[in-house]
Amino acid sequence: MTTTKTTRGVLNKVPAIPTLEGAGVQIHRAFPTRNFDYLDPFLLLDEMGPFEFAPGQSAGFPDHPHRGFETVTYLLDGQMEHRDSFGHHGRLNPGDVQWMTAGSGLVHSEMPGADLAKNGGLLHGFQLWVNLPKRDKMTAPRYQELKSAEIPTAATPDGSVKVKVIAGEALGAKAVIGTHTPILYLHFALAPGATHVQDVPHTWNAFAYDIAGHEFTIFAKNGDTVELTNSTDRPAEFLLIAGEPLGETIARYGPFVMNTKEEIYQAAEDYRAGRMGTI
Ligand code: CO
Repeated sequence: MTTTKTTRGVLNKVPAIPTLEGAGVQIHRAFPTRNFDYLDPFLLLDEMGPFEFAPGQSAGFPDHPHRGFETVTYLLDGQMEHRDSFGHHGRLNPGDVQWMTAGSGLVHSEMPGADLAKNGGLLHGFQLWVNLPKRDKMTAPRYQELKSAEIPTAATPDGSVKVKVIAGEALGAKAVIGTHTPILYLHFALAPGATHVQDVPHTWNAFAYDIAGHEFTIFAKNGDTVELTNSTDRPAEFLLIAGEPLGETIARYGPFVMNTKEEIYQAAEDYRAGRMGTI
């Protein structure tokens, strides 16, 4: 007996919006924007840059709190330095990933690395916010940091499709990161004319971000695969991100994402009272 898989249609193509964030970093915000709010369980996607720092320029994201979700930082170019109120200190170089579970709350800073701040240069990367299910919102903060070389990769025999597997599974390679709910986070490089068909469970929300085009495609939920095609005459890169929707109420205020307004007030109160710590 054979089963036939159905390819999902395209629901929408949405451009990311150039924005200044933090202390003057140029980003492309995919969502939330006036065009698109969120795609459960994903709350935000920012493409940081590509932004050229002048020597001595130190724009970044100084001390700020988070509670109730996860921030996933994936750096393509440059250097980022991370510090938080639990004494954690991490440095991201090109290709590295930090999967941070803010859970019950922390204060952190995300700044350009010392070399980048001193000498200037290109910063380019992504930050994705993944919502936590109600049961895990107040879990203890956790970090999973992966150096570029530790991220599983795979390719088709002819090399026309290459993938880095940050979460989930593709082309036989399996991620080493653990997620609270099932998620796919894949970075594909497609040669001109190449196509890749990726399994994505039909109940999951899925989108693909075209890195050069600064726009993303939202797939319809009418099949169990999605198709990525590079119809240009140059190499193309996409992030394919998909996950099982939580289907829970969302109360959101700035850096806090909870289920009810009361929990947001509590988060703001806990932050003000210093209960998320200081750096
Ligand atoms: Co942050």
